[in-house]
Amino acid sequence: SMRLLREQRDGLRDRILAGRRDAVDRQHALGKHTARERLAMLLDEGSFTEIDMYRQHQAHGLRMEEQRPATDGVITGSGTVHGRRVFVYAQDFTIFGGSLGEAHATKIHKVMDLALATGSPFIGLNDSGGARIQEGVMSLNGYGGIFQRNVQASGVIPQICVVLGPCAGGAAYSAALADFTFMVRDTSYIYLTGPDVVAAVSGKRPTHAELGGAEVHGRTSGVATFVHDDERGCLEHVRYLVSLLPAGNQELPPSGPPRGAVTDVRPRLAEIVPVEPNKPYDMRAVIAEVVDDGAFLELHRDWAANVICALARIDGEVVGVVGNQPLVLAGVLDAAASQKAARFVRLCDAFNIPLLTLVDVPGFLPGTEQEQAGIIRHGAKLLYAYCEASVPRVQVILRKAYGGAYIVMDSRSIGADVSLAWPTNEIAVMGAEGAVNVIFRKELAAAEDPAGLRAALMAEYGERLMHPHFAAERGLVDDVIDPAHTRSAVARALAMLRNKHRQRPPRKHGNTPL
Ligand code: COA
Repeated sequence: SMRLLREQRDGLRDRILAGRRDAVDRQHALGKHTARERLAMLLDEGSFTEIDMYRQHQAHGLRMEEQRPATDGVITGSGTVHGRRVFVYAQDFTIFGGSLGEAHATKIHKVMDLALATGSPFIGLNDSGGARIQEGVMSLNGYGGIFQRNVQASGVIPQICVVLGPCAGGAAYSAALADFTFMVRDTSYIYLTGPDVVAAVSGKRPTHAELGGAEVHGRTSGVATFVHDDERGCLEHVRYLVSLLPAGNQELPPSGPPRGAVTDVRPRLAEIVPVEPNKPYDMRAVIAEVVDDGAFLELHRDWAANVICALARIDGEVVGVVGNQPLVLAGVLDAAASQKAARFVRLCDAFNIPLLTLVDVPGFLPGTEQEQAGIIRHGAKLLYAYCEASVPRVQVILRKAYGGAYIVMDSRSIGADVSLAWPTNEIAVMGAEGAVNVIFRKELAAAEDPAGLRAALMAEYGERLMHPHFAAERGLVDDVIDPAHTRSAVARALAMLRNKHRQRPPRKHGNTPL
């Protein structure tokens, strides 16, 4: 009867919701939460709608008939974050170690398809032993289906990958394909081949942390966009991130209330940035003065720290900030910084987030190591990304902008809509001493007092070329502004550009130097 059926099913539902006690305890003992606890932390209270709860694996052989849990190792569905719709999956490590077989993969495919069809952000909570070994190639096929969807959704809806446990083998590629990847210290690991396989191949057994811990991916490889100390803080930041993103590429990011930025005066800016061209300072302090409430979300904080990429709001509108960081490597651009900023510029362009570029750059990092590391190829990525970006683009040159790095950091020549400069700054092909040594080599060699002549020529060079008015007179800088007016000038420029819309001629896709 209907009643019996309902009772039977309700018992099943309770069992599924409760989970297996011993496995749940084990998860807690590891300092981790269960998939359902994580969904509760991520989503607005009571907003979760689960789909496919009763879907089970259909595998045979290798004793799989004897182990057929009432649900498979992933929970899928939809909910809201700060009132905005998202689609999610949360892998359940308590069932076959969260490993991914056919049913598991098909559930994920379904929510990915729904996220794309409804134009909603997609969030994956990963905690998995990888491809479910017992299901063979069907597991690998399942991963392929996820990656194919990751790529089709790329630039259409935001994709967020949260790693809260192991994320091994093929699964690692979802972390790399996502727009944002979160990790938690000490409990999350991402690697293609685990310690056992590495030991078998190389004879040396690395730890999980050495292979793919949060420290490795947050600092060295750049796989992790954000690293957090615990799951709760991590998921809270996922919520904050969602509040800064549009649901998809057909929308603008959500606006907050205007903050009177267009008339804001910030005298501290002139104190933060030293007049001496080579004295270090923290660009974060500049960003904090320019954006609303001093609040910004930094991507890849510890990787390629010589460039800063951050999401923030100015006068309530979301903006992507790219800034050289004079505190690290004097703020030079190197291969890693170019890659980091390039991906960020493309992210912002894909999701209609205007770009603010804060320039204080001595140049590209010179040397054989960088040249051999392919700095030309990686620098070209950043150049390509800016050249292609059709969102509103505002450049502010704070102190110096030299050579190729000037061009790349969103100069007027590659498409900045508005360029602003502080009066103290230097924009030139190179610094005075290097320049004078090249163009007056013969004169200096023949001079009776080369040091005196060099000083005089450097002064002349500086006076003629190394000030923002040389650029302003030639239309490469729109305005030379009082540093205290930076926030207001940027806010005005962004307001002016808000409805910017540019169609590109049709092409299959460009050939960005990957
Ligand atoms: N396929 C099937 N079952 C898997 C699995 C996989 N890929 N990974 C883990 N499991 C199962 C385990 O057999 C175990 O089952 P049990 O509770 O019935 O004994 C359960 O999940 C928990 O795994 P366990 O190894 O006890 O957890 P751990 O925390 O000690 O280790 C891993 C976690 C991920 C490091 C470890 O399980 C592992 O190395 N898994 C294989 C990883 C891999 O090579 N995957 C294929 C790459 S695509």
